[in-house]
Amino acid sequence: MKDTIILAYSGGLDTSVLIKWLQEEYDVDVVTFTMELGQQTDLKKVADKARSLGAKNHYSVDGTEEFVQNYVFPAIKANALYEGKYPMATALGRPLIAKKLVEIAQKEGAIAVAHGCTGKGNDQVRFDVTVKALAPDLKVMAPVREWGLCREAEIKYAKEKCISIPHLSDPYSIDQNLWGRSIECGPLDNAEQEPLEEIYELTVSPEKAPDKSEYVRIAFEAGVPVVLNGKKMKPVALIEKLNEIAGKHGIGRVDHIEDRLVGIKSREIYESPAAEVLIEAHKDLEKMILTRHELEFKKQLDEKWTWLVYTGLWIDPLREALEAFIDKTQERVCGEVKMKLYKGACWAVGRSSPMSLYDKNLATYEVETSFNQAHAEGFIELWGLPTKVANILKEKVKKENIC
Ligand code: ARG
Repeated sequence: MKDTIILAYSGGLDTSVLIKWLQEEYDVDVVTFTMELGQQTDLKKVADKARSLGAKNHYSVDGTEEFVQNYVFPAIKANALYEGKYPMATALGRPLIAKKLVEIAQKEGAIAVAHGCTGKGNDQVRFDVTVKALAPDLKVMAPVREWGLCREAEIKYAKEKCISIPHLSDPYSIDQNLWGRSIECGPLDNAEQEPLEEIYELTVSPEKAPDKSEYVRIAFEAGVPVVLNGKKMKPVALIEKLNEIAGKHGIGRVDHIEDRLVGIKSREIYESPAAEVLIEAHKDLEKMILTRHELEFKKQLDEKWTWLVYTGLWIDPLREALEAFIDKTQERVCGEVKMKLYKGACWAVGRSSPMSLYDKNLATYEVETSFNQAHAEGFIELWGLPTKVANILKEKVKKENIC
């Protein structure tokens, strides 16, 4: 009996080539696995293709619900934007795919799992670290990295082996799920040049967006969105709907230079309409509810959480420890934010919460309030004391030439 390898299979060029390649190089049975994370894959078509290329068995798993509950929701609570820009759709999806890979490998008694990541990106790290941590005895194979397979070599091999490749002319590397779409490579490698409109699927260009703005109201409970425009919705449906509404207004496009973990700077394009609106709304609501001390401290933890996830360390215990703190703060993050969407931008224009620390009576300049302005004078005296002392000394040193 032959050994079995489980291959994370997307139906694209790399992984289609890998089915045959693994069979021929290692004389193994290849079992393929495709995961739906809200990108609306035609799972049947992908499964048929895998089988037609010789996969011994194929697994299709819809993990969209789990993805949102256990990966996207923590990202919203942590306001996760890598380098202030990227909502991390790909980075969040990888550890879940790796977890399922391990489950299937264990079920099939496989000796190894394989993926189609190159040696230049972050995705290889996310897969490898997660698999190794969950199943230390399972071998991880990355043939594209191992043999440095390039696109031309893959196309040549595919032609030789009669592997059909859709969109042969498509030069981009794309990864998509419910939280967003990542687009790399091809003409995008030229960082000077504006991307062609053809690369975008979830968003219209701001120029083509409606001339009239639109409002959306998002209600959060314990830090996660539960109601959209007054309608209680299931998490997946809510994000789908918001992707549609915000995409129509051209919201969620990112074009930036990003620092990959392996030290390379890369030019990355993203489209994440719902993610941009939800994180912006969530941040706005937190500002109304959390104390300034909580906000200041949480910001550092949010950044650490984001960095851990980006760099493939989802499985590290630190993530859960950070989430314990973050979740505690989120218990109070309930309320509604009104967002305005207009030609590629979104911003909060109103917010309310039963847990609000905003006190109109305290804040207003207009009426007599419980805020005793006389206290301000003494406060300022003490607040500025260290600064004043330091400056007096500085002047003295200058004048008397002390040192
Ligand atoms: N640079 C992004 C990240 O590391 C996007 C990766 C996209 N992956 C892909 N296979 N196109 O998360």
